[in-house]
Amino acid sequence: MMKRHFALLPLLAVLLAACAPGTVDHEQISAAQRTVARFNHVTAENSPKHLAAVRFADAAAKRLGERVEIQVYANSQLYKDGEDMIALQKGAIQFIAVAPSKLTEFDSEWQVFDLPYLFSSFADVERLYNSPIGLRMRENLEAKGLVALAIWPNGFMQFTNNRHPLVAPGDFSGLAFRIQAEQVLQDQYRALGARAVVNSFHTVYADIEKGQLDGQENTFNNIYTRNLQRLQPFLTISNHGYLAYVVLTQARWWQSQNPEVRQALLESIQEATLWIRENADAINQAALAKIIASGVQVRTLSSDERKVLQTAFVPVYRNVEKRLGPDFLAQVLSTVRPGP
Ligand code: LMR
Repeated sequence: MMKRHFALLPLLAVLLAACAPGTVDHEQISAAQRTVARFNHVTAENSPKHLAAVRFADAAAKRLGERVEIQVYANSQLYKDGEDMIALQKGAIQFIAVAPSKLTEFDSEWQVFDLPYLFSSFADVERLYNSPIGLRMRENLEAKGLVALAIWPNGFMQFTNNRHPLVAPGDFSGLAFRIQAEQVLQDQYRALGARAVVNSFHTVYADIEKGQLDGQENTFNNIYTRNLQRLQPFLTISNHGYLAYVVLTQARWWQSQNPEVRQALLESIQEATLWIRENADAINQAALAKIIASGVQVRTLSSDERKVLQTAFVPVYRNVEKRLGPDFLAQVLSTVRPGP
């Protein structure tokens, strides 16, 4: 008798484990119980953003098994730059990671992330994002049905063009540069006497080829993976802006997930965030080496040359002060560069 009870123990343990709260039996997931979430983005498969999105998907699979499958689509496969935000709001996709410039249509305060020479490192960007100002900006997104889950680095923005080396403000005069749709970026090129042309990430190569653009700005990785080195023989390492991404999900979809799934997804995003923080710089440096090897003339601005550009950008800061108020700008500056 005793023996028979012992024989039943393994079975009992399995049954108890299956009933325990929060336990997932992956074998028992039906198609209807399975959630497929799509992460669409516009950069290449060897970009920091794509590699981090894949890590997020893998980390989620490890935690949730077959309950949630995150499918990652690179290179605007499902939706292009601009369309992706609408697709997210409609629930056609569940995750995107976009530059703050692309959030200014929901809340104009996000424009401060584009201020030239505001940030000296990604840590500065994170400080602003995690500050009370950043928290308010994220709450404003929630009111528009978007939940910000993390901030990811890509790298510093650099100028490229097809005319001549860009060093002093006068070198930019009369040239047409592609920008993301955002007021601070418009002002930045106006301050240099250049023309800013708003267009989508995926059309930059074709627009340069058609002669509609002379130059553009982006990270080494985005420049190299879009093959811009073929059309832009001059690159200036200016580090004037920082391209970071806000990882977003749709509030309705997020709240419809059970708390255990949400927690697992948050932990998975954190894992991907740690990975991209550690690897984005190296990915960009590898892209720079390939750009140099392709024959592009690369010019690094000296600190004096950077100071000349910074002085030229003073009107850009004044315009933000006018648009968002002097107190707000002062708070941003003291958050990013806290005093000793
Ligand atoms: C751009 O439009 O240049 C970037 O925001 C693209 C990206 O997502 O890196």
